[in-house]
Amino acid sequence: MEYMYTKVKGEYDTMGFIDEIKAKAKADLKTIVLPESMDKRTFEAAEKILKEGIARLVIIGTPEEIEKNGKGFDLTGAVFVDPFNDPNKQKYIDKFVELRAKKGVTPESAKEQMEKDYMYYACLMCKCGDADGVVSGACHSTGNTIRPALQLLKTKPGVHSVSGFFLMEVPDCDMGENGRFVFADCAVNTDFDSEKLAEIAALSAASFRNFVGAEPKVAMLSYSTKGSAKHDDVTKVADAVKIAHEKYPDIALDGELQLDAALVPSVAALKAPGSSVAGHANTLVFPSLEAGNIGYKLVQRLAKANAYGPVLQGLAMPVNDLSRGCYADDIVGVVAMTAVQAQMQ
Ligand code: ACO
Repeated sequence: MEYMYTKVKGEYDTMGFIDEIKAKAKADLKTIVLPESMDKRTFEAAEKILKEGIARLVIIGTPEEIEKNGKGFDLTGAVFVDPFNDPNKQKYIDKFVELRAKKGVTPESAKEQMEKDYMYYACLMCKCGDADGVVSGACHSTGNTIRPALQLLKTKPGVHSVSGFFLMEVPDCDMGENGRFVFADCAVNTDFDSEKLAEIAALSAASFRNFVGAEPKVAMLSYSTKGSAKHDDVTKVADAVKIAHEKYPDIALDGELQLDAALVPSVAALKAPGSSVAGHANTLVFPSLEAGNIGYKLVQRLAKANAYGPVLQGLAMPVNDLSRGCYADDIVGVVAMTAVQAQMQ
């Protein structure tokens, strides 16, 4: 799976968005766990994060892993947790068993899993209140990064499904919020019904407000605008709009809308007259994972947009995934975004 936070190493230096996020993270420091001590990029990023004061850091690893991969980096201020020799370990084992005994987890299997896969250790630290969020995935797949979080941290109260959004920053663009958009779900859910789409819309609206700092205008996208086509796929989106209006009446949301009707005022005037969202949407909810995933990549590649994500929304505590092709600067950016999500919990 290929996805990334920036296109070119060092590009963060010239971008407004990530600098804004870093400034927010610095204002109220959170503790973020980095479980990938087997990768040098973790330590390169950690040095920058600590130097810039973006977050407090916990790095999980054995003394050998830290010596081997962290050598030469200034890691002053980081807390190192050895998963084989941690005085708090029994507390995490007990919590793991408490949460997953019904799924067959025993003290022995919990210990083994935590020692084999530090992502479980990191999530348990969060669950026990010893950290505020996790960033991983530089050398683990998306599934292996997300699964421990879904199993141990679970969703926020009232949320049924975790989804993944991209914060898109399109250069020279007067649509959205000066070219900034949230696109969702581009990363997690493989099947959508109307209830799930409505929930993704509400989570995405909150993510837009929190990260962009402006009022969300949510378009529920389809290949049909206001009944121009008839198909079960169109009905699914139209039903999601009804559910969203009932459940979240305060959100400015409309659909079903084609993309041009969502973004272009002149098209909106023809296809969806009277809509307060059409022509001005800044939060785009796609009808399927295919559409969302392909959509963000089209904009990233053809419009040369910056695509920050996937950022997970709906988890009880923030956990975010990295591209395996990421640079240390990407890890720094994702840690800042995760810290800001932790501030909002
Ligand atoms: N929200 C909340 N909980 C969930 C979700 C969700 N969206 N999905 C799964 N879970 C829970 C399950 O209920 C289960 O809980 P339980 O063990 O307590 O019963 C647990 O998570 C594990 O669920 P599984 O279905 O067994 O997990 P699985 O490993 O099959 O899949 C995953 C989870 C990895 C998120 C899967 O849905 C997936 O692979 N999604 C697509 C990821 C992907 O390929 N994205 C595109 C590429 S990313 C990109 O390009 C940006």
